[in-house]
Amino acid sequence: MTNMFNQVQKRSARLALAALLLSTALGQAHVGEHPSVHDTVAGIIDRFRKTISLKELTAMDASKAKSLLTEKELHILATEHITFRVNVPVKVIIIRETAMGDKPFWLKDRGFIPMGFKITLQGTEVDFWMKDFEVGRIGLGVNSLTGGNSHYIAALMPLKKETKLEVTELYPGQLRVGSLKDGLQPFVDRPEAMPKLPVLPGVLSGLAVIRTQNESRDDAKLINLFHNTNHPALAKPDQIMLTWSGDPKTTQSIQWRTGPSITKGEVQWVKKSDYNRFQPAQPKQTKATTFKMENANLLNDPIVHRHTVTITGLDPGTAYIYSVGDGSDDGWSELAEFTTAPGRTEPFSFMYMGDAQNGLERWGSLVQSAYRQRPDVAFCIMAGDLVDRGNERDDWDSFFHSSRGVYDHRPVVPAIGNHENQGGHPGMYLQMFDLPKNGPEGIEPERAYTFRYSNAEFFVLDTNLTMESQAVWLEKALAASTATWKFAVYHHPAYSSKPERDNPSIRKHWTPLFDKYHLDMALQGHDHAYLRTYPIKDQKKVANTAEGTVYIVSVSGTKYYEQDPREYTEFGMTNTSTFQVLDIQISGNRLVYRSYDTEGKLRDNLIIEK
Ligand SMILES: [Fe+2]
Repeated sequence: MTNMFNQVQKRSARLALAALLLSTALGQAHVGEHPSVHDTVAGIIDRFRKTISLKELTAMDASKAKSLLTEKELHILATEHITFRVNVPVKVIIIRETAMGDKPFWLKDRGFIPMGFKITLQGTEVDFWMKDFEVGRIGLGVNSLTGGNSHYIAALMPLKKETKLEVTELYPGQLRVGSLKDGLQPFVDRPEAMPKLPVLPGVLSGLAVIRTQNESRDDAKLINLFHNTNHPALAKPDQIMLTWSGDPKTTQSIQWRTGPSITKGEVQWVKKSDYNRFQPAQPKQTKATTFKMENANLLNDPIVHRHTVTITGLDPGTAYIYSVGDGSDDGWSELAEFTTAPGRTEPFSFMYMGDAQNGLERWGSLVQSAYRQRPDVAFCIMAGDLVDRGNERDDWDSFFHSSRGVYDHRPVVPAIGNHENQGGHPGMYLQMFDLPKNGPEGIEPERAYTFRYSNAEFFVLDTNLTMESQAVWLEKALAASTATWKFAVYHHPAYSSKPERDNPSIRKHWTPLFDKYHLDMALQGHDHAYLRTYPIKDQKKVANTAEGTVYIVSVSGTKYYEQDPREYTEFGMTNTSTFQVLDIQISGNRLVYRSYDTEGKLRDNLIIEK
């Protein structure tokens, strides 16, 4: 029988092969959620691919792309992106970024006319376009054929003042009706509210607004679609990643990738204490579940196979050596290792990072040096926005390439950011990460979950969904927790660096639970500046950590935001990528929190004692 130890000698040859397979790439792809627009765009892209040369495709601009669409396709893209019914005649007012120029393409074609004034919202100039509609169904079109910009929103003004407007059958279902006044959240997928709107002409203020999904601004992107990945799959496994989907004491999940020629996978493992290179113990093995992941927009590597294994029945607190492969002699990965969680309360350390998202190469050197500096961490938490384009595989290929040698040794514990949710659904993320399925009923499994490690419990939440959808479950899980230390992990921060980036819904539905059950720390992302709050309870600064929760925002990638002084900020930094290490010490019941920059220099620290 072939086993994982056969591969030890073949290491250098494989590295040389991997180095040969690098190439350059650029671009973006469409990911949509409206069936009609989605299918139409998929059909267009398929036709483009079959009938247009790669050179022409790469050079194509929006007007050329539009000229290649059929009447029917144009009609669907102009009318079926957002639909709803009104009970009275209305003026529909499209509010969009002035910088969009002649986009959306259907605005003028369908007779919308400019209202002749502009305002500035959060630093962006927007203008207003109007058209009257009768009672009944109204359909609005896609944001653009090029992608980018923010999504428009639509205000609705009854033509007769005294009538009461009702909006029904709003499609897609995740859209919501809001009100054009202070506190408006324009986008359903970005919970940031506009605390103060500029002064609006009287007739506009208080109008009903269709709050749109900003991530769907790229739903009909028809240019710059086709690109190459820098890291195509090989027959040999790569992108090997540890996660937990079961109990960290006794299980270990492993995921990896191969080219499409490899149709099966398995993992072999032995206890590290039984591993002897010259007289190896017979390894145990578990078969993988294999599935095909297809990305038609990746010209050089459209199809890969992904393999997932969960090993069960492991001993707690035990190190194991493992290798993944397809069972053939040449198919084994380098030996790597994992360690199960301790069976009783023991000191441990873990890492936490904010958004990687941009500059994944430079993020790679951060995560590599973080792991070199603290190889003793048990796992790595990432609070969302692991990549920029979450439904495009080449971005994930860069992510895995940058973190190679780390996440095959230490499990990654991810939360879903808005960028994983590209196009309105984190499809690729959910396919790739095998995570606990113990989250709230009524939302997709693996989007929110909890797990226990030693005397700490982690509550991982999804801020792309409504906070309400997770609140009941969160309260139950917090109430049931017997852990000494409690941490929440989620993407959009409850407390941010700037007022317009605050998330009142999190403060409404979650932070009262953090107060009630005394959460120690909330580990957040999204707001690309470093922030540590004073201990907070009831949305107010309190005297010490025994009374309140400390909220952290951090960024590990290379995109940064500005920071305003906030009354709750104990320590803040801008233009600094960091990683955090949290040491849970049993003697003295202490938590030592430290934040390091890319040079490994200590930038912030905090000690919490129980
Ligand atoms: Fe984000």
